[in-house]
Amino acid sequence: MTKTITVIPGDGIGAEVIPAAQAVLETLGLPLIFQQAEAGYAVFEQGGDALPPATLAACETSDAILFGATSSPMTKVTGYHSPILGLRRHFDLFANLRPASGDGIDILIVRENTEGLYSGRERVEDEGATAITERVITENASARIVHMACEQTQRRRRRLTIVHKANVLKETCGLFRRVAFDVAAEYPYLAVNELLVDAAAMWLVRDPARFDVIVTTNLFGDILSDLAAGLTGGLGLAASANIGVNRPALFEPVHGSAPDIAGQGVADPRAAILSAAMLLEHLGFADSAAHVRQHTLATPHTGQTSHTTQAIIRRLEEEYHYV
Ligand code: IPM
Ligand code: MN
Repeated sequence: MTKTITVIPGDGIGAEVIPAAQAVLETLGLPLIFQQAEAGYAVFEQGGDALPPATLAACETSDAILFGATSSPMTKVTGYHSPILGLRRHFDLFANLRPASGDGIDILIVRENTEGLYSGRERVEDEGATAITERVITENASARIVHMACEQTQRRRRRLTIVHKANVLKETCGLFRRVAFDVAAEYPYLAVNELLVDAAAMWLVRDPARFDVIVTTNLFGDILSDLAAGLTGGLGLAASANIGVNRPALFEPVHGSAPDIAGQGVADPRAAILSAAMLLEHLGFADSAAHVRQHTLATPHTGQTSHTTQAIIRRLEEEYHYV
């Protein structure tokens, strides 16, 4: 029954918002054990590995991972690999669930998390004058992400939108689209439609209430999930889950390490706390998850990480006092 959570704060504001989320989890009186692990650019500079073997080993022995953010350089640094991409790959966390709700909007973006333009297959030709990234789309990965999206859709408003760019990317998006419709046909009670990714961006801004679940490939999901976050309170409230099969799932705020505001104690902890709520739900603590979510959404960010966190903890303590 006791669940072990590996906590990886990372760099920048990750080191501020993840301890806040852990503090919230600790007030709930649940059988949770926390173990701390390191990852990020500072760790890379010290030891040459942004995701050290000890961190992976800790994750291996845990039920879930709570991850903050790490700073990744904009240019190639030999030996540096993004820890979050490494963790997704290592545990084959193929489904990235990114809810965005508020102001009459309730959207879930289901982002494929293992391939597409994140294949890592990059090279230069012509002595550096041409750069090539291979966009890899497979039937297997497309089918499992669309199954996941359909499962999620049937628990919600039963409307699924398949987002692609098959008018241009005829092979890769063509394959994704074909498999998506094949899989969705196994769920006849869902209303399934499709949109090109550019039109999806426009309709998300014009009429977000029309969307329920969106399923899409890796980079499109990355971009649209920031857009959806921008429609519903910004990145300060955007949480996410990275889920695989019989492996520890990883929960992280959608935002990055925000070096511009790091170290000042002003970061909004709510996206990390809402990610912790997704973690609770995944581990089977549905009631606690709902309480954390409800009280976090009801608490404004005052501008101080610690004040916002304490306000959420106080609301939870009051609630548990009466239960
Ligand atoms: C996200 C982030 C990551 C991504 C980066 C940090 C590698 O933007 O989780 O959305 O692109 O997937
Ligand atoms: Mn992103």
